[in-house]
Amino acid sequence: MSSDTLKTASITNRLAALGSERWAVHFDARKRVAAGEDIIELTIGEPDIPTPTHLIDVADRSMRAGRTGYSGGKGEPEFLKAVADKYATRSGRAITRDNVISFPGTQAAVSMAMLALVESGDAVLVPDPFYATYEGVVRATGADFVTVPMSIENGFRLTVEQLEASHVPNARVLLLNSPHNPTGSVLEADEIAAIGEFCIRHNIWIISDEVYESLIYRRTFASPFDQKVLADRTIVVSSISKSHAAPGFRAGWAVGPVEFMSQLQSVAESFLFGSQPFIADMTTHALVHPDDTAQRISTAYQQRIDLLLNCFQGCEKLRALPPDAGMFMLVDVSGTGQDGAAFARNLLDQGVAVMPGDVFGNQANALIRISLTVADDQLQRAANRLVRFANSCGPDA
Ligand SMILES: Cc1ncc(COP(=O)(O)O)c(C=O)c1O
Repeated sequence: MSSDTLKTASITNRLAALGSERWAVHFDARKRVAAGEDIIELTIGEPDIPTPTHLIDVADRSMRAGRTGYSGGKGEPEFLKAVADKYATRSGRAITRDNVISFPGTQAAVSMAMLALVESGDAVLVPDPFYATYEGVVRATGADFVTVPMSIENGFRLTVEQLEASHVPNARVLLLNSPHNPTGSVLEADEIAAIGEFCIRHNIWIISDEVYESLIYRRTFASPFDQKVLADRTIVVSSISKSHAAPGFRAGWAVGPVEFMSQLQSVAESFLFGSQPFIADMTTHALVHPDDTAQRISTAYQQRIDLLLNCFQGCEKLRALPPDAGMFMLVDVSGTGQDGAAFARNLLDQGVAVMPGDVFGNQANALIRISLTVADDQLQRAANRLVRFANSCGPDA
């Protein structure tokens, strides 16, 4: 049989345009940098602060001590306890190992949880703008990806009115992300309570992606999981990728109601067959012995936000949208006469790589996303180039 008759599954078509194509500007920039071009990369969200050496030491010691075998499907007992304790302290409720499963990063946790909750015929509500991988996470399951347009006017804070306007009868899950990527907005407890009432009214689960929990500059973190009436319909997914500058360790988890977690365990075991004990040891250490990594990242990124705001101040064509949290700042570039995609493409020729907003949904078409993850002097140079380019755009240039 010739290879062109071999069939693949429909998931490959559903996801075909949702993978690396979304990162085209980033990969293009990488190629051009490798070819010797002077391009400053402000694209992806990788902390520029190194992973703390004490965590690397724990992983190293653990590997040398032989913690390199298989783990159970749920994860290592000490790790599960450390995660359970974190959420027990946060929520004030009794959370045990039965509420927790280990995953290699938030990305795997959100994907597995989604797969365990929805399928073809169901719909998932996703506030727009959204984290770029969410569309693939939903479409992989066969469920409909239903966006809930948020508004730049209220700082992209999800409201019940917006949810009601986009609600469809087959909606089964709300994919919530606060602190939010790419907007940096943080929902407060009363806003989450109102959103939760909507979910109760329509019998909807909440997957709460809280990976930026510890990188907040303004406002107070709140989670639906910490509100008793929402706890039985909420699954938290998170990791130490951002809080401990350790994305390469792929150290994450899901926390949720016991009955659902045992269903999720079967899915996790089929796909992942457990996790790595030495990563579990390192993650347990990170959770049990808090350090100042998140604080150092937050302080550095806050200064970089101020640096950008100062630089953009005199430029009428750029409207910066300062974040409450996270590793990014959005900028409205519509004043240049270009949308975010065209602006990002053209800016690359001026030596700066940023993410075009449309990658994050229709509501971000007019925007670009700037990553705060490069050193101040680099960021200053990039911002100068960006302003120079913006001023050269448009009819009155
Ligand atoms: C909102 C959001 N969720 C999940 C992830 C992935 O996190 P992890 O490294 O834990 O898989 C990211 C990474 O940038 C993110 O921004």
